[in-house]
Amino acid sequence: MSSAAHPLSVPSPRRGRRRDRIAVVGYGYWGSKHVRVLSSTPGVDVVIVDGGPARLAEAAAHYPTAKRAASLDEVLDTVDAVVIATPPATHAALALRALEAGKHVLVEKPMATSVEDAELLVKTAARQGARLMVGHTFEYNAAVWKLRDLVRSGELGKILYVDTARLSLGRYQSDVNVIWDLAPHDISIVSFILDEVPSCTTVWAHSHISRQHADVAYLRFDFPVSQTRAYVHVSWLTPKKVRQMTVVGQHKMAVYDDLSDNERIRIYDIGVDVEEIDAATQAHALPVTYRTGDIVSPYVPFQEPLLVQDQHFLECVRAGAVPATPGERGLEIVRVLAATDELSGVAGLDVVAGAAASTGRTTPEGSGHVGRR
Ligand SMILES: NC(=O)c1ccc[n+]([C@@H]2O[C@H](COP(=O)([O-])OP(=O)(O)OC[C@H]3O[C@@H](n4cnc5c(N)ncnc54)[C@H](O)[C@@H]3O)[C@@H](O)[C@H]2O)c1
Repeated sequence: MSSAAHPLSVPSPRRGRRRDRIAVVGYGYWGSKHVRVLSSTPGVDVVIVDGGPARLAEAAAHYPTAKRAASLDEVLDTVDAVVIATPPATHAALALRALEAGKHVLVEKPMATSVEDAELLVKTAARQGARLMVGHTFEYNAAVWKLRDLVRSGELGKILYVDTARLSLGRYQSDVNVIWDLAPHDISIVSFILDEVPSCTTVWAHSHISRQHADVAYLRFDFPVSQTRAYVHVSWLTPKKVRQMTVVGQHKMAVYDDLSDNERIRIYDIGVDVEEIDAATQAHALPVTYRTGDIVSPYVPFQEPLLVQDQHFLECVRAGAVPATPGERGLEIVRVLAATDELSGVAGLDVVAGAAASTGRTTPEGSGHVGRR
């Protein structure tokens, strides 16, 4: 595989076969993008489902020939597969309904809002022989693949830590806090590039606008096998939009800026080494020496990640391919998100909490509530 090339194949419509019918449930901000990319894919008929009359009217204006419905039940019998892009708290019930009808399902992140619901979806898909895929869009992003290659090839050296920021004046959600809304992306990217699911977290979260859901959070994830950490900052309440990930290695550092047009990955040949200092010079010498070198921005071909993801889902529907982000992957990330809730446990939105996520034990650092519901 070339460094930034995506290994997933593009689906081909089956000759002599009728067109595939895909229902997209939820024609909101993100669901409308699924409708756009699926409508432009050969051999696909999109059925648009939304419970909101105004949303359906807008869908009719943009896609006058597409079939539309106010509920999934109205069209479930007529489709081959279902894409669910509704608010997170509705994912499990809708996905379960579709899987029980034997349909292949792509669910947006987070796959569900509880571990129990996510497990039920995975079990139901297995029982029904249906494909269950989660919309971890960044795992279909060529820049993320490039970052993973840099880590795995050893070019950066041992990874000392990863820092991520996903900030903006964001879309406040009514059913989940900022962690469940935005951090699935960062957790999925970091665990994808390190090939490891984090086992421990520390959480600070606060609701600045309402008493309902935390809108700013700082999290720490530990990766015991890689012996490294990720520090994740997510916010709906910041003036400047930031989508940045910094991977700090012992040899080099890499910055992934998802908002950059042509330099999404920059590799800095830069570092800090510990200086051996004898007692006589200790008082005056710096304890480290600095290395500086070139800054390189490798070419990363751009293909819309949502298009890559949805075409892969079609390949799973048409040819029975196993999803690159299967339900089990969605469950892994839901477990990590649930651990951020477990850390808290008690009411109150101003939180500093630390715990071993795998055991749910709270450390002496304290505990608090991160306000998912
Ligand atoms: N993968 C990504 O990069 C990405 C980006 C943004 C959002 N998302 C995810 O997409 C999902 C939707 O987010 P959004 O920002 O588009 O939300 P939104 O509020 O803009 O849209 C949700 C739509 O779902 C409809 N809806 C709600 N319940 C329904 C039901 N039971 N049946 C039919 N329609 C129903 C609403 O009327 C609304 O139009 C969320 O899970 C979110 O986390 C993913």
